[in-house]
Amino acid sequence: MESREAIQQFASTLQGELMSAMETGGPTEAIQVCNEVAPEIAADISADTGWDVGRTSLKLRNPDNAPDEWERAVLESFDAEVAAGTPADEVAPSHEVIQTEDGARFRFMAAIPTGGQCLACHGEDIDSDIKHALERLYPEDEATGYQAGQVRGAFTITQEM
Ligand code: HEC
Repeated sequence: MESREAIQQFASTLQGELMSAMETGGPTEAIQVCNEVAPEIAADISADTGWDVGRTSLKLRNPDNAPDEWERAVLESFDAEVAAGTPADEVAPSHEVIQTEDGARFRFMAAIPTGGQCLACHGEDIDSDIKHALERLYPEDEATGYQAGQVRGAFTITQEM
């Protein structure tokens, strides 16, 4: 429940920042939001809650967001659900208690659907200015070629228990 609220807060804060940057400066300015503000929002929520909060994906833009083994399996299950016909925005979050060397952890992930507004920076046909800006910041970018309705990635939370 609280995990859902934290993710809701992450998603809506980021969405708000992204949309206002798109309006004032266009996608090249909005790239700054994703580049700087997204990790800041995650860090703020992590500091508030004491949990580890972030975003991840099977096709990464920022290698810092790489999934661990549990996250990778959940991302694959989200993709499988969508391939089987579940709309990406209706895929249910996944949670599990995992035993680690440092004790039990509550893990929670919620799928992030690709919407039309994401395609400017994650789609198949990216404007050359944006492409160049992305190449500068993310030389190993894999997070393009998406279509609306696919799972772009997930919000992920780890809580110590
Ligand atoms: C203005 C360009 C832009 C738009 C529009 C955009 N993104 Fe991104 N996205 C980025 C950048 C830049 C990063 C890398 C952020 C970082 O360094 O952590 C990113 C990273 C991500 C990540 C983290 C995983 C990874 O690949 O590193 C997810 C998930 C994501 N975006 C989803 C979305 C979704 C969903 C939308 C639409 C609601 C969206 N993005 C719209 C530029 C954009």
